[in-house]
Amino acid sequence: MNKYLAYVRGLFLPLGYEEFFACMEAENTQYQAEFSENQIILFESTENPSKAASRCAFLHSLLKIIAIGTVDETISITEDYSFDEIEKNKTFCVRAYRIGKKQTKISRMDIERDLGSYIYNRSANKDLNVNLSNPDYQFCVILQDKQFYLGLELWSVNRETYRKREPNQRPSFRPGSMKTDFARALVNLSRVREGDIFLDPFCGSGGFLIESSILGAYSLGSDVSAEAVLGAVKNLKKFSEGDFAIIRNDSRKTSIKKADAIATDPPYSIQSSTHGEQVKDLLYDFLLESKTILEPGRYLVFSSPKKIEPEKIVKKVGYEIVSMIDARIHKSLTRRIMVAK
Ligand SMILES: C[S@@+](CC[C@H](N)C(=O)[O-])C[C@H]1O[C@@H](n2cnc3c(N)ncnc32)[C@H](O)[C@@H]1O
Repeated sequence: MNKYLAYVRGLFLPLGYEEFFACMEAENTQYQAEFSENQIILFESTENPSKAASRCAFLHSLLKIIAIGTVDETISITEDYSFDEIEKNKTFCVRAYRIGKKQTKISRMDIERDLGSYIYNRSANKDLNVNLSNPDYQFCVILQDKQFYLGLELWSVNRETYRKREPNQRPSFRPGSMKTDFARALVNLSRVREGDIFLDPFCGSGGFLIESSILGAYSLGSDVSAEAVLGAVKNLKKFSEGDFAIIRNDSRKTSIKKADAIATDPPYSIQSSTHGEQVKDLLYDFLLESKTILEPGRYLVFSSPKKIEPEKIVKKVGYEIVSMIDARIHKSLTRRIMVAK
């Protein structure tokens, strides 16, 4: 059993934790969580959790833990670490990150330098060299109050890949499109797996479908607006990494027969139109219809303004609520993300 640390982004924390656990379930990676708080998820697993972590939009990185202690003992921590997993003649560097306020005199730079030279000396038989810009191995120290976590980084996010797919970077842009990280997180909460049929029944310009296709799903989208459908097709042609189909369809009475996972962002009647329908009525009708197509035991995820209390509608329709996550977007919009089964 190895110990791992998932380092969660500070934004929308509960969403970051839920997304990670959903990805572990989707990838069928067994684990035992010790805690998830203050941007850290500490857990044990006999399997490699890198595939699950690398799907997550709200993680910074994943570390395989080498040592946990208090900052005063930083240098002694690698005493019983064997370097077995490090290959000869490779390069390494040490990076330190601090969560929250500085509680100790020691600086991040001091830790990086001292630990770097310690590792260099300790691993002399491995002929490692330091490379600060593109190392083969990155050792990371995460400082939180006086506590530190030292690990070998197994994966870290490349934000640039998300930025390239942001709504304003797509051939077709529609107001009301969710940012890419949010779209990815909602798709992840649906526990979609490679080869699944993923459905977004209010697909707009196709942001969720792009994410599900990158995750290896067959991406099926629909929207009542012909203009949205055409825009989504253009966007998917540019960004999708698999098969997709997008049809013009009213999600209250759909011609789609089956989906393994659903994630969607129905209109709030602010930037995107409900086409004359009350937001609550539209949600109710769509949820009822979705029950006829979602495979038993699988997940449906959607986002709504908190103030409409979507949980009441979910219960009324007869779905089981798995989780409910609030994310404050600005003064007048808090999104309530519902995960239902
Ligand atoms: C918030 S937007 C979706 C944005 C999308 N997630 C994106 O990233 O572009 C909601 C979409 O729902 C569509 N819509 C409204 N009523 C609908 C209905 N009854 N059936 C299907 N789509 C509908 C709108 O045309 C709009 O494109």
